[in-house]
Amino acid sequence: MSELSTMILDRIRDVPDYPTPGVLFKDITPLLADPVALVAVVDALAGQHQVDKIVGIEARGFILAAPVAYRSGAGFVPVRKKGKLPAATLEESYDLEYGSATLEVHRDAFAPGDRVLIVDDVLATGGTAKATVELVERAGAEIAGIAVLMELAFLKGRERLQGVDLRSLVIV
Ligand code: PRP
Repeated sequence: MSELSTMILDRIRDVPDYPTPGVLFKDITPLLADPVALVAVVDALAGQHQVDKIVGIEARGFILAAPVAYRSGAGFVPVRKKGKLPAATLEESYDLEYGSATLEVHRDAFAPGDRVLIVDDVLATGGTAKATVELVERAGAEIAGIAVLMELAFLKGRERLQGVDLRSLVIV
């Protein structure tokens, strides 16, 4: 296992039964609070991509995506839960275990042909990332890749993102 993987895994705390009984929550706050680990993670997420915009997914994705944008010399675009963006939006719904959720992006968030890296903290079922890919493409931009801190392989999110360059700093 790489030094970076060990640094990340040592700083992610498992919280049982949060937010509901039976769920083991991956808490990244100890990682975020460590200045050395935070720099290492942001640098690794930025990678070698030459992009125009970094897309961050509300809410925890924002924390990582904004410094990745700064590091990459790219702009930052938020993808938010429905009803939070003020101007005209595109929206995309996706299924949750119970019910569905809707994400939005501003219609004018991208210039035509912008190259975009999507950044989030966790890839689980992949529903959030897949909906974000659809939104970015419908808004006229091109997906350069997706970069996540942690991929929960047993939920098979990667299978929903075939054809996309998906990089995970740790896979558990
Ligand atoms: C979490 C996480 C990802 C998403 C992954 O966000 O930050 O965005 O779930 O799950 P999926 O791959 O099964 O779609 P959440 O919706 O809990 O929002 P939050 O960051 O606002 O807590």
